[in-house]
Amino acid sequence: MAKSLINISVKAQKAGVFTTAGDLLAVGVFEDTPAKSLVKALDKKLGCRIEKLKKLGDFEAKPGSHCLLYADGKLDAKRLLLLGLGKRKKIMLDALRKAAALAATKAVDLKAKSLLLSLHTDVPGSVKLDWVQMGQTLAEAACFGAYRYDEYLTDKNHKRPANLKVVIVDSDTAVVKKLRKGVSVGVVTGQSQNYARTIANRPANVINPITLAAAAQKLAKSIPGLRCTVLDEKQLGAKKMGGILAVGQGSATPPRLIVLQYVPAGATKKTPAIGLVGKAVTFDSGGISLKPGAGMHDMKFDKSGGIAVLGAMKAIAQLKPKCRVYGLIPAAENMLSANSYRPGDIVTTYSGKTVEIQNTDAEGRMILCDAITYAEKLGCESIVDIATLTGACVVAIGQKRAALMSNDAKLIGRLEDASDKTGERVWHLPCDDEFVEEMKSKIADLKNIGGKWGGACTAAAFLSQFVDKAKWAHIDMAGVGVWGAGENDAPGSIGFGVRLLTAFAMNQR
Ligand code: BES
Ligand code: ZN
Ligand code: ZN
Repeated sequence: MAKSLINISVKAQKAGVFTTAGDLLAVGVFEDTPAKSLVKALDKKLGCRIEKLKKLGDFEAKPGSHCLLYADGKLDAKRLLLLGLGKRKKIMLDALRKAAALAATKAVDLKAKSLLLSLHTDVPGSVKLDWVQMGQTLAEAACFGAYRYDEYLTDKNHKRPANLKVVIVDSDTAVVKKLRKGVSVGVVTGQSQNYARTIANRPANVINPITLAAAAQKLAKSIPGLRCTVLDEKQLGAKKMGGILAVGQGSATPPRLIVLQYVPAGATKKTPAIGLVGKAVTFDSGGISLKPGAGMHDMKFDKSGGIAVLGAMKAIAQLKPKCRVYGLIPAAENMLSANSYRPGDIVTTYSGKTVEIQNTDAEGRMILCDAITYAEKLGCESIVDIATLTGACVVAIGQKRAALMSNDAKLIGRLEDASDKTGERVWHLPCDDEFVEEMKSKIADLKNIGGKWGGACTAAAFLSQFVDKAKWAHIDMAGVGVWGAGENDAPGSIGFGVRLLTAFAMNQR
C-alpha cells in the first residue's frame, strides 16, 4: 500500500520573530539592508555575523542564495536560514516565492517539523506588493517547496518529517490580518497544486483513464459545490466522439471524458461559464507511430494538462469565483495493439469534422478537439485548453515557459495577468490561418500533423478549427511540467497550470 505524503500546514501568526520557538527560522535578506530593519536587529543579536558573512563574500544576499546558521541560543528558533532577496527596490513577488519555496525545501531536508517564515518584513513600502498578495504567495510557495513524491519508497528511514507546520510570523496585528487573508487562499492553491503533482507523478500502471476518472469522482465528493460526471466508452460512442475513441481504442483500458462542474451559489442561466480543457493521455507510447525508447517513461506525464485542470477545479470549488467553471478532461492511453488506430485512418470527430491520421503520436489534439466541441456545446463563453502537446514547443521556447496561442487578444491579456500573479510563465505564439492551411488534408477536412517546422503553432491551429463561438486559448505545457532528478529535491511533476488556471478563473467577472 502506498503511504501518505508529507502533511503541510501554513498559517500567519502575530509573534516576535526572535522569540518564537521553531526548528528553523527563515529570514529574507536584501543586498542593501536598511539601518532600520528586522535583519539589522537580528544581526545585532548575532554579533554582526550576517555583516561579516557579507564582507567575506560568503553570503551576499543575491536572489536565490542562502546560508544556514546556528543561533547558539540567541534566538528561540533552533536554526536560522538566511535567504537572499537581491536589491530592495527590485523586489518582486517572484523572488519571495522562490525564497519561500527554498526555505520549505531546506526545512524538509533538515527534518524540521516547524518552519518560521519572515521573508516579507523588510520589503519596502515603496514597492507595490500588498500584504494579502504576499501572504498568498508565501503560502503557495511553502506548500510547493515542502512537497516530496515518495509514496512508493518502502525505506522506513526517510529523510523527511511526516508533518511540516509553516508559520509566517509578524509582530504587527494589522499586517498579520492581511497576511492571513492571503494565506487562506494560498493554502488552497498550494495544496491543490500538490494534489495535482501526486496524481501526475503516479505511474501509468496506477493512473489510467478509469482510475483517473475515479480520482476525479472522489475529489468531487470531498468538496461541496463540485460535481463530476464521467462519460464511458459507450457514452462516448453514442455521442460520436470519434477523436477520443480513436486514441483510446488500442489500450486495454478504455477512454473516458471526465466532466467536472463548479456552479456558484445563486447562479442563473445567464451566469457566464468558462471551460478548462486538459489533455490526459495517461501514457503516450506514440501508438503505431511508436516513440523511441529513450525517455519514454516520462510519457506517464502526458496527462499533466488534464491534471492541471483537476487541481485547478479542486482550488476553484473552494475559492468560489462568480462564474460557472467546467473542467473537461479527455482521458485515453495511447498504446499499440491489434485495435490501435493507424496512420491513414480517417476519424470523424464529435464536431462532425473528419481528420486524416498521418501520425498516431499526434494524439493529444485528437482527444482535445472532442472536448473543445463539448465545451462549445455547454455554452462556455471562453475556453482554455492546456496540454503537453508538442515536442516542437520545447524546441521553440525551452523549458521555462509554456506557449500561449489564442483567437482573442483580451483573453491573452487575462491569461498573461494570471501568469504574472502566479509566476507560471507563458509566452505568446501565433496560430493563424497560414498555419491552418498546413493542417488541411486532401481526403479529409483536416490532417493531424503539419509540415516540418512550427509544430507547436500548427497543433494549435488544428485545435482552433474546433472552436465555434467561444473565445479560446491554448497552453502548450510540454516543456514546463516536469523537473528532472538531480536538479531539484522533488523531481517529477511541478503541477504547472494549477495556479495559472485558478487565478484566471478567479479573475472572471
Ligand atoms: N506527448 C507528446 C508531446 C511531448 C513531447 C510532451 C515531449 C512532452 C515532452 C505528443 O503527443 C507528441 O508526441 N507530439 C508529437 C507530434 C508530432 C507527431 C507532430 C511530437 O511532438 O513529436
Ligand atoms: Zn504523442
Ligand atoms: Zn502526447
